[in-house]
Amino acid sequence: MASPNVQLSEIRAEVERVAEEVNVDKQKITISFERSEFNLRTEVPEVTDSLLIDVLAIAKRHIENWRLHTFEKSFLSVQALNENLFSSEGILERIKIRVSGLYGEKALEITKKGALTQAELSLIGALLKRALGRPKATDAIEELVQMGCYVYRPEDKMPEIAAFSRLKEKLRETLILPLKNPEVYDRIAQQTRAEFAVNRPRAVLFTGPPGMGKTTMARHVGKEAALIVVHVPLENLLSAYYGESTKRLAGIFDAAMAYHKPLILFLDEIDALAPSRNEKLFEASRRLLSVLLRKIDGLETQSNIITVGATNRPQDLDSALLSRFDSILEFNEPTEEDIRELLRFFAKQLPEEDNRTLAKKFITLSVRAIRDVCLRAERELAREQIEKKAGVPQAPTLEYYTRTLAEYRLTR
Ligand SMILES: Nc1ncnc2c1ncn2[C@@H]1O[C@H](COP(=O)(O)OP(=O)(O)OP(=O)(O)O)[C@@H](O)[C@H]1O
Ligand SMILES: [Mg+2]
Repeated sequence: MASPNVQLSEIRAEVERVAEEVNVDKQKITISFERSEFNLRTEVPEVTDSLLIDVLAIAKRHIENWRLHTFEKSFLSVQALNENLFSSEGILERIKIRVSGLYGEKALEITKKGALTQAELSLIGALLKRALGRPKATDAIEELVQMGCYVYRPEDKMPEIAAFSRLKEKLRETLILPLKNPEVYDRIAQQTRAEFAVNRPRAVLFTGPPGMGKTTMARHVGKEAALIVVHVPLENLLSAYYGESTKRLAGIFDAAMAYHKPLILFLDEIDALAPSRNEKLFEASRRLLSVLLRKIDGLETQSNIITVGATNRPQDLDSALLSRFDSILEFNEPTEEDIRELLRFFAKQLPEEDNRTLAKKFITLSVRAIRDVCLRAERELAREQIEKKAGVPQAPTLEYYTRTLAEYRLTR
């Protein structure tokens, strides 16, 4: 059933509504109705394959039958047909859509001889929204997940972290304060600079041996600063997407920028980009590195992203990459005091005296190793309880930890 015609004023109102929704100046969309021919034209930011395909899909959703005139790279032209496909009556007067990215033009054009129907008006609204709208923030996050990133939201549950009060204080100063109070930093820069420039850190590198909590702390910073953390596992990216990896890395940065709101881009195991002795990998990692350098530079003007990198081998990192980071935070082995706190966290039942004794034995171990030894002691005890060995305690005692530590050291 044909829907009733709409007035020009209704068309203008719909165009204004969409322009406002996608935050585009409504003057950029011109509408004319001359000699009973309707014409709408607007420049679009980019004519991509996905735009052309989406335009087709939108057209199909709103109008029953279509004829595809031209569908080439950067050019699409379609025209509606009659509802009754066997009738050719007035066929040239149906609505026509043209998207062109040829000859320096980037435009969407919609024409029709005669008045528009309600269905055609909603088609126009949908087309404008797609052609002019930026990707929604939620879509950007979805895209990041599809590209192999892990996204941690501040409201997600996260394992508690203990000890390392000096390191935590440093993290607060370097990252959390600027992330939570950007306006204070900007106000100062406005007072001091001839030309305004951001004085907050843009890229921070976490260095330190394996298992010292670099990955855990990056997530913790996100939680503290109430920001999303996008964990980019570079190692996986390089091995799993061989050849495709540069494209993926570029795509990840683009999607993160499209998010618009502040986020932490966490480039974990950044030493995956260190020069490799394997020749095939060498090529791939060089290319990946050069994309990364370019993308990090591109973030200079992008204030929504702060990059955090993590590595076990800072000495192996390319110096150009290293120089992109404006602070380096070292995650060193836990001090005796840190270990005592970690033990209050992983083995709270131990009396002070035992806590102190065990801490001394744990010196030089990583946080991960300390946690693993504590876990093993618990499993050992559980087994003994199940087997009903005589004289088994409720919770592991110092002895259990000392024994599992000795076994642990043997296996390393
Ligand atoms: N401060 C902490 N308190 C409690 N547990 C911690 C702390 N830091 C790290 N852990 C635990 O130790 C383990 C290792 O930490 P994490 O994976 O963050 O280390 P990493 O430095 O990223 O290691 P790698 O270099 O191998 O990637 C994790 O399971 C984490 O939960
Ligand atoms: Mg890690």
